[in-house]
Amino acid sequence: MAVVPYKDQNDDKKSQVATMFNNIAGKYDFLNHFLSAGIDIVWRKKAVSLLAPENPKLVLDIATGTADFAIEALRLNPDKIIGVDISEGMLAVGREKLMRKGLTDKIELRYGDSENLPFEDNTFDAITVAFGVRNFENLEKGLADMYRVLKPGGTAVVLEFSKPRSFPMKQLYQFYFKNILPVVGKIVSKDNAAYTYLPESVQVFPDGQDFLNIYQKVGFRSTKWHSLTFGISSIYIGKK
Ligand SMILES: C[S@@+](CC[C@H](N)C(=O)[O-])C[C@H]1O[C@@H](n2cnc3c(N)ncnc32)[C@H](O)[C@@H]1O
Repeated sequence: MAVVPYKDQNDDKKSQVATMFNNIAGKYDFLNHFLSAGIDIVWRKKAVSLLAPENPKLVLDIATGTADFAIEALRLNPDKIIGVDISEGMLAVGREKLMRKGLTDKIELRYGDSENLPFEDNTFDAITVAFGVRNFENLEKGLADMYRVLKPGGTAVVLEFSKPRSFPMKQLYQFYFKNILPVVGKIVSKDNAAYTYLPESVQVFPDGQDFLNIYQKVGFRSTKWHSLTFGISSIYIGKK
């Protein structure tokens, strides 16, 4: 059984995830930075820096949300970044941010589902996904479609939560993730489920080598895994 945000509803995971992100879109950026004490910003920077040697010109940011990872990827100096997401609420916040920052000529945000990307095969030089793959309804299908739209020789970088495994970080993290984060998240976002779904979805997500196995299964080669901040997050890199 897939972990879904609203367990009392019958909708599939994809529609529940879209509804959840529509509900929390206005508070998402604040909660992200507040609950992670700003470390999420450092993680995105690190992930983008791994793409720098590739010098990509056309970049796709999947599950772009409010466009933070897409904005970070501007440091690569690409011609264009396209961000896709299934939550119109998150995209609306992202578009407003891009307008405010004067970045609408470089970054374009569109509705798009990771499992059925609205692009031709072999289109992008690089693909980025931050904190998105854990939310996919069908992880393997999402990664396979990502591989399809990547150009041969192109690189995909995935940033996602993982599970710290050593004492005492494992225990501290579990306490924080299960007891503090859901309470603060619920009070601020006013969504009963979103910040309970977060630790639950991390718990069942195949991290580390398990993720690399799926990455390789859909075709990625030269795969690598970087563990960040005691294993709280990980970066996965693969080439086509
Ligand atoms: C935790 S947010 C991450 C947003 C952004 N990448 C960041 O770094 O802050 C996860 C995003 O994944 C999107 N998402 C989930 N499933 C998706 C799918 N199948 N296709 C595209 N986007 C999806 C959600 O709507 C949400 O905006």
